[in-house]
Amino acid sequence: MKIISVVGARPNFMKIAPFIKAIESYNNNESAEKITHLLVHTGQHYDDRMSKAFFKALHIPNADINLGVGSGSHAEQVGNTMIAFEKVLEKERPDWVVVVGDVNATLACSVTAKKLNIKVCHIEAGLRSGDMTMPEEINRLVTDRLSDLLLIPDSISGENLKTEGVPDNKIAFVGNIMIDTLEANRSKAEKLTIENIITGNVLSTLHSSFFTIHYSLFTQQRFALLTMHRPSNVDKKEVLQPIIEFLSNEVTKDMHLIWPIHPRTQNRLREFGLWDNLLTNEKVILLHPVGYHEMLKLNMEARIILTDSGGLQEESCVLGTPCLTLRWNTERPVTLREHGGASVLVGNNVERIRKEYQNTLKLTRSPQRPELWDGKTAMRCVEAIVKYK
Ligand code: UD1
Repeated sequence: MKIISVVGARPNFMKIAPFIKAIESYNNNESAEKITHLLVHTGQHYDDRMSKAFFKALHIPNADINLGVGSGSHAEQVGNTMIAFEKVLEKERPDWVVVVGDVNATLACSVTAKKLNIKVCHIEAGLRSGDMTMPEEINRLVTDRLSDLLLIPDSISGENLKTEGVPDNKIAFVGNIMIDTLEANRSKAEKLTIENIITGNVLSTLHSSFFTIHYSLFTQQRFALLTMHRPSNVDKKEVLQPIIEFLSNEVTKDMHLIWPIHPRTQNRLREFGLWDNLLTNEKVILLHPVGYHEMLKLNMEARIILTDSGGLQEESCVLGTPCLTLRWNTERPVTLREHGGASVLVGNNVERIRKEYQNTLKLTRSPQRPELWDGKTAMRCVEAIVKYK
């Protein structure tokens, strides 16, 4: 059997790493029919800190083919990926294309494969935010509609697919593959120090010297961890500015704020004239995008996390970090407090963020583990593909 799996953007890498390892262990089984595997990187994320660093840290083999698509509008990214990926499929003729998550690579490669009558397997199928203004929701809907095998991370996703009329025999409940990566890397992350993470990734010289002097005070108080990159939060000044003011004027009265910053967000902050004030705020520690283990360690140690990332919502659930999700909806309801998780939706309205921030500071770390988020999902994915009829 020949499988091509696809990655494009940062959140794909932690999902594909355990899948590739599971194929290797499956192939070690003498009696199994061997799987030939090729990895395609669409090139949507290309900076070393957004891509190469994850391949290295998670021991992902170099991509067999890089489509070099890069940045652009959605139509440009999807269109260029389809044109380049079609050539790969014509040449390689795999039995399966495996896509993960909900980025533009997921959509583009599943459409291209189905047009060539190649079977598609979607890992992380069935997530629905119900928000059609999110590009990722469109990617999820189209990919799931086309997929032959839909591997779901939780039972709510299964219900979503059944409501849309997907037959049971196309769906397999495998658990959350990102948690395989978390469990495999937890002990390595634990050994890192916050001080080294900061000094190795800090964006401003102000903070490198600050930390040498004040590090003990900083660790005592702990810190808030922030990530923010969704277009709905960062692309409009009238939305972004009040959030930044709340974070840099109010949250910093309680503790430091550590913020590994996404290139999209940094570009917008500069464009909106908000960057220089942040750089000179002693309590806001701006970092370059950090590696997988560094982010895991920051999440393990944070007093509170504020994020609009889906993956961080899931990791915070398993690590128990009290989490404010800077969105009005989520395709990952299993991570919410009403389902036993660590997160609460706060949108991007400062009144609401402030109120939930104050409530959340009273909470303590409380790890939760949804069903089958057990670190063994990847092998279940491989087995589901092999068994598919
Ligand atoms: C993409 C995904 C999003 C995911 C996010 C994780 C889609 C539709 N969106 O959003 O679901 O949560 O990745 O990071 O696929 N840039 C760089 N270097 C890079 C990559 C991007 O500087 O290596 C800058 C460019 O200015 C680019 C901008 O970031 O235009 C946005 O990148 P893009 O890949 O279009 O979308 P993300 O916001 O990263």
